[in-house]
Amino acid sequence: MSIISKLRALITLGEGMARGISELTVSEDPFALFHDWFENAKRAGLTLPEAMTLATATKDGIPSARMMLLKGYDDAGFVFYTNYASRKSRELLENPQAAFVLHWPTLQRQIRIEGDIEKLSVAESAAYFSTRSRGSQIGAWSSKQSSPLKDRAELERQARNHKLQFGDGEVPLPPFWGGFRLKPRHIEFWQGRVDRLHDRLRYTRDGSSWRIERLYP
Ligand SMILES: Cc1cc2nc3c(=O)[nH]c(=O)nc-3n(C[C@H](O)[C@H](O)[C@H](O)COP(=O)(O)O)c2cc1C
Repeated sequence: MSIISKLRALITLGEGMARGISELTVSEDPFALFHDWFENAKRAGLTLPEAMTLATATKDGIPSARMMLLKGYDDAGFVFYTNYASRKSRELLENPQAAFVLHWPTLQRQIRIEGDIEKLSVAESAAYFSTRSRGSQIGAWSSKQSSPLKDRAELERQARNHKLQFGDGEVPLPPFWGGFRLKPRHIEFWQGRVDRLHDRLRYTRDGSSWRIERLYP
C-alpha cells in the first residue's frame, strides 16, 4: 500500500469510527451505500477489496464457505463467476440461496448480504469471459474444479493441451463455466466504533423498497 493509500484509509477509518452510520441519514437505497463503501475501499488501496466469503448449503442445510471475487453489482444484484460443476455451484443449483460477507479490517467495516441465487445468461457470462486474460481463460478450461486431481502434472498437461487446441484463436466460454447473481433480501452494514459500540444497519427488502433497522452490535 502506498503512503497516500495508507493516509486515505486512515482518514476513512477515522471518519467512520468517529461519525459512524445512522439510520436517520443513510440512503434509502442500500446499493447507494454499498457503492459508497466499495469505492472507498478501492480508493483506500486495500488488497483485493472485492474479496468476499461466499457461504452456500446443500439442500439438507449442510454449509460450506470459500473466498470469491465480487465481479459486479447493480440494482439487480451481486455477480460472481465460477465453474458450474464445482461444489459451490452444485450447492447453489440444488439450494439457490447464499450469503456473502466482505470485510475491510483497515476501515473497520463489514458488509453482509443474503438472498436468492440465479444463474447468469450464457451471453452475460460470455461477455465477462471475453475480458479475462488468455491465461485465466485457458485455466478455466483446464480445471474440473472441486474434483479430485491425481497430481499437479495432470493439471499442467490439461493446460498445455488446451493451449494447443485454441492456438492463436479466440478462447470460447466453456459450457461448464459462468456467473451467478445473488439477489439480496438483506444487506447489513457494520461500522466499527469505540468500546465495541459498533453501528449495524440492516436493510430488508420490502416489496419495491427497503426497510432499515439498527441492530445491537
Ligand atoms: C481471494 C480469493 C478469491 C477467489 N475467487 C474465486 C472466484 O472468483 N471464483 C472461483 O471459482 N474461485 C475463487 N477462488 C477459489 C475458491 O476459494 C475455491 O477454492 C474454489 O472456487 C472451489 O470452491 P468449491 O470447491 O467450494 O466450489 C478464490 C480464492 C481466493 C483465496
